[in-house]
Amino acid sequence: MKKGLTTTAVGLALILSTGSAVADQDSDLVINGEIEVTVRADAPAHLENLDQIFSGWTFRSSETQALQMDDFENPGMIFVDEGITAWNTVEGEAGESCASCHGAPEEMAGVAATYPKWDEAAGEVQTMTMQVNDCRTEQMGAEEWAYDKSDMLNMTALLASVSRGMSVDVAIDGPAAEMWELGRDLYYTRTGQLELSCANCHEDNYDNNIRADHLSQGMINGFPTYRLKNARLNGVHSRFRGCVRDTRAETYAVGSPEFIALELYVMSRGNGLDIEGPSVRN
Ligand code: HEC
Ligand code: HEC
Repeated sequence: MKKGLTTTAVGLALILSTGSAVADQDSDLVINGEIEVTVRADAPAHLENLDQIFSGWTFRSSETQALQMDDFENPGMIFVDEGITAWNTVEGEAGESCASCHGAPEEMAGVAATYPKWDEAAGEVQTMTMQVNDCRTEQMGAEEWAYDKSDMLNMTALLASVSRGMSVDVAIDGPAAEMWELGRDLYYTRTGQLELSCANCHEDNYDNNIRADHLSQGMINGFPTYRLKNARLNGVHSRFRGCVRDTRAETYAVGSPEFIALELYVMSRGNGLDIEGPSVRN
């Protein structure tokens, strides 16, 4: 039994069981036989309680893993195609498309690996979603896309896809430090009737089973994620909401400062893994 189990709230101990049912936890992720994705790495220095970090991909069944290894099998890639169409579509009063300023989507290779990040002009930490909406309103004179809804998820899936195989590297110092610390506090705060923090599940008990689910470290290097459960793309903040609700707590809104801070912190826990969105998960 892992040591975390004894220190965790009783509510969780009742629903957990140890041991992994997954055979392929040591396999490597190579997409289309050519994009090599780092799915396990040494933990970044700021992580005190983990030595190694793992992508959520390593905890999935071999069938689910396989879906992500071939773009023709990955249901998330359909939405990337829709993102490409949107990328090339002129919208808004300025008569511009993303392409007219940025060229091909591949020009954005590496960008997704650095978000959330401090934006000097805006004077705030921005998620990729906020940056895209900034371009829509400020550059294009177009309407914002709703946070974590399909238009935005198609675009963030496209932006992730051109960064696959590139190392997550978000800055946590300088002007981003304050938000990062807020995110870290939220990560370790127990919430809800079950009195569970993110860390109770994803740090103390990863690799254990909770109900039928094999617990991962709750990394976000694979977002947006195509979930077999709801057959669509899912954004980071929507996933956070689901996890907080599972502790039977009130939760923050999608796009709220708390979730932006939490996203920055959780992304930084994965510094060293590679971007692999759109990923496929249960
Ligand atoms: C009129 C030109 C223009 C258009 C159209 C435009 N952008 Fe931008 N975009 C910019 C400029 C200028 C920046 C850098 C300044 C900033 O951060 O806002 C930028 C920055 C970005 C970045 C951040 C790059 C980085 O290195 O951090 C992303 C991502 C992005 N744009 C995506 C988009 C998307 C998606 C669209 C279409 C929905 C779009 N942009 C439309 C001008 C444009
Ligand atoms: C009661 C246990 C529990 C708590 C508490 C919990 N989660 Fe989760 N979380 C899960 C389960 C179960 C899954 C689905 C299996 C997996 O990927 O770990 C999951 C999945 C995730 C994923 C998706 C990982 C991937 O690879 O797609 C992220 C991200 C995540 N959680 C973040 C969080 C954050 C942040 C918190 C705190 C706000 C949190 N979770 C709290 C149980 C929990």
